[in-house]
Amino acid sequence: MSAICIVGAGYVGLSVGACFADLGHDVTCLDVDEAKVDALCNGRVPIYEPGLETLVARNAASGRLRFSTDYAAAVPERDLVFIAVDTPTGAAGEASLASVDDAAKALAPRLTPGAVLVTKSTVPIGTGDLVSRIVGEHRGGGPSFPVVANPEFQREGSAVHDFLHPDRVVIGSADAGAAARVADLYRSFDCPVIVTDLRTAEMIKYASNAFLATRISFINEIAAICEALDADVEVVARGMGLDARVGPAYLNAGIGWGGSCFPKDVRALEHMGSVHGAHPQLLRAVIEINRDARRLAVRKLRDALGGLRGREVAVFGLSFKPNTDDVRDAPAIEIAHLLLGEGAALRAYDPVATAKARAVLGASVRFTASALDAAAGADAIMLTTEWNEFRDLDWAAVLAAMRGTVLVDGRNLHDPARMRNLGFHYVSMGRAAPAGAVGAGALTPAG
Ligand SMILES: NC(=O)c1ccc[n+]([C@@H]2O[C@H](COP(=O)([O-])OP(=O)(O)OC[C@H]3O[C@@H](n4cnc5c(N)ncnc54)[C@H](O)[C@@H]3O)[C@@H](O)[C@H]2O)c1
Repeated sequence: MSAICIVGAGYVGLSVGACFADLGHDVTCLDVDEAKVDALCNGRVPIYEPGLETLVARNAASGRLRFSTDYAAAVPERDLVFIAVDTPTGAAGEASLASVDDAAKALAPRLTPGAVLVTKSTVPIGTGDLVSRIVGEHRGGGPSFPVVANPEFQREGSAVHDFLHPDRVVIGSADAGAAARVADLYRSFDCPVIVTDLRTAEMIKYASNAFLATRISFINEIAAICEALDADVEVVARGMGLDARVGPAYLNAGIGWGGSCFPKDVRALEHMGSVHGAHPQLLRAVIEINRDARRLAVRKLRDALGGLRGREVAVFGLSFKPNTDDVRDAPAIEIAHLLLGEGAALRAYDPVATAKARAVLGASVRFTASALDAAAGADAIMLTTEWNEFRDLDWAAVLAAMRGTVLVDGRNLHDPARMRNLGFHYVSMGRAAPAGAVGAGALTPAG
């Protein structure tokens, strides 16, 4: 078993650290955020991630998982040091390496000879070499430390499951021995392990995320064409997805992709390509189509209500997807800003993301304790996150509580005929409105 330090105890670092501890390793999660570490030391998990609280509690109790803010205490004598800090979008669209840079500088004097540095964060191509250089410069001689890229593919909302059951593990390094030591951590997993060079491993992560975002933007483009031509994108996606060469995943039309990864990673890849003389025109279109998808939902609502000024709109869902409280670059948040900008009055409900959304949207939105409370007296509902709770609501009761009848389903969560039969003026994304259906007459060619 290895002694592991994970630098950065956020969505990735905490779940990866807890999973490694559960596999029997001795793990310290190190973070500069004192409030976060304080909460963790006191048994509170500061993010919502299914299964994580139990995992953290079990491994903290066993003594295999600890938390610290102190580099001097947490780093020495560790065999493997993972960097899992944030790499947000910088001013020009690039991935900012400020936190990676800080972490590498702080790690440098404290690493014990023989330790392997592992980048878990999603980092621009070449960052492994950069980390190696920074550590060398801030150590002032002595042995060098091998760097391994080991990007993470877990999804928020199923992070623990995804980490423990990956489709593949990617490991990149110039040092075969270091790569083997990292590969050994995953030896109990039944999945392919790709061992390659640093830069290729870093690129696999960006290319994977960019491809998934491209699939969603692609189906959203098809959805717009379906609307113009009276075809149903849901059936089109099903028909496409049954082709083994295409597959069904990431073909849900709607208000597009968001979250803490796809937006920043697609932008960063586009930026990397541009500054290095490539012409990443597809990535630019993927970003542009995603922007349009959010605006299209607002336009549909505006058209259905005949204007937004003074209208009471209930936003159902604030997190960027279900089963997480992460609102970073969530379509719901941008849509809320757009609606507020057009003079709508907003009330919003999310099963778990209210606190994080409040920190972003502030007092401009009234947050409610239930979906029904949000709907009460509203002219319209904008459904922005496909939580199961919104699938299973008593929609007749929701309609009865409302002042109006408009429901814009930004995630195509519901059966149009059923919602129209209930009495909703139901609008969704890219689905043909059957002739004569209740509410169908209000759909414009674009909506
Ligand atoms: N969130 C995901 O689902 C996901 C999935 C795969 C990959 N990633 C990548 O993993 C990385 C981390 O993402 P995240 O969502 O966990 O971010 P996060 O913002 O939730 O967590 C990052 C943590 O790093 C800490 N930190 C920053 N600088 C530090 C320093 N110098 N020393 C110690 N701690 C420091 C922050 O306080 C924070 O707690 C990013 O590169 C992201 O792209 C994220």
